[in-house]
Amino acid sequence: MDSTQKALYARVLPLREDLTVLDFGCGNGRWAFWFAPRVARVVGVDLSPAMVSAARRLASEQGVQNVGFIVPGDEAPFPDDSFDLVNCVWVLKYILTDAGAERTIAEFCRVTKPGGYVAVIEQVNRSGSLLVESEGYYQGRALYRTPGFYIEAFKKGGLHLRHHSITNASPLFWAYSRVQRALYGPAAASPAPGLRWVTAASVRCDLLAGRAMKFRSGHHFFLFRKEGEA
Ligand SMILES: C[S@@+](CC[C@H](N)C(=O)[O-])C[C@H]1O[C@@H](n2cnc3c(N)ncnc32)[C@H](O)[C@@H]1O
Repeated sequence: MDSTQKALYARVLPLREDLTVLDFGCGNGRWAFWFAPRVARVVGVDLSPAMVSAARRLASEQGVQNVGFIVPGDEAPFPDDSFDLVNCVWVLKYILTDAGAERTIAEFCRVTKPGGYVAVIEQVNRSGSLLVESEGYYQGRALYRTPGFYIEAFKKGGLHLRHHSITNASPLFWAYSRVQRALYGPAAASPAPGLRWVTAASVRCDLLAGRAMKFRSGHHFFLFRKEGEA
């Protein structure tokens, strides 16, 4: 999924060396470290102090200078129009009230510069249902909203949809991760040695699976642009 998402970002996002990026719900910096060599500065924010520490440690180990990681409240709120791009991957689904998600989206809209972008990858479905996720060691509640919910919430903040596509991992990917887990255990590096060809095939299958599913459910990518001149 990581390769699929990053191939999509590389193709669709209008990145430049002078841009400032906010990565909201940054986790251990999976995205921040991808953006870092492509833009001027990345700020990662995460609710989890453990994730922020892990991201800071990785930045220091890898000598990445243009990233910073904070937990919300570490610093004063960002001023209006602070960022050229806000990135938010797999975070909004963990905000379990619609009012809470709308407040967070309104903040994204406020801190994005006129002409700037917000990129979101989120799990959605047609009924907008609450699910218990179970992935590896993680078990918790998540709300899979409809794509329309996100499109409307951003529109209220003056951001309009520029790109919408599916970033599902294909069924082959799930088969692959089961084989990997059986062979190497849950902590295996991804992709496991010797199974790299499956990842490559999986990325190709994503395109076909995405088309076949016709946006009904799964991982969606949304790119919104704020009104005004950059
Ligand atoms: C599934 S991980 C995704 C991490 C990263 N965006 C990525 O794609 O690799 C979700 C992350 O969102 C963070 N998170 C959840 N709710 C949040 C909130 N309200 N504010 C900031 N971070 C939040 C969690 O701590 C976790 O690190």
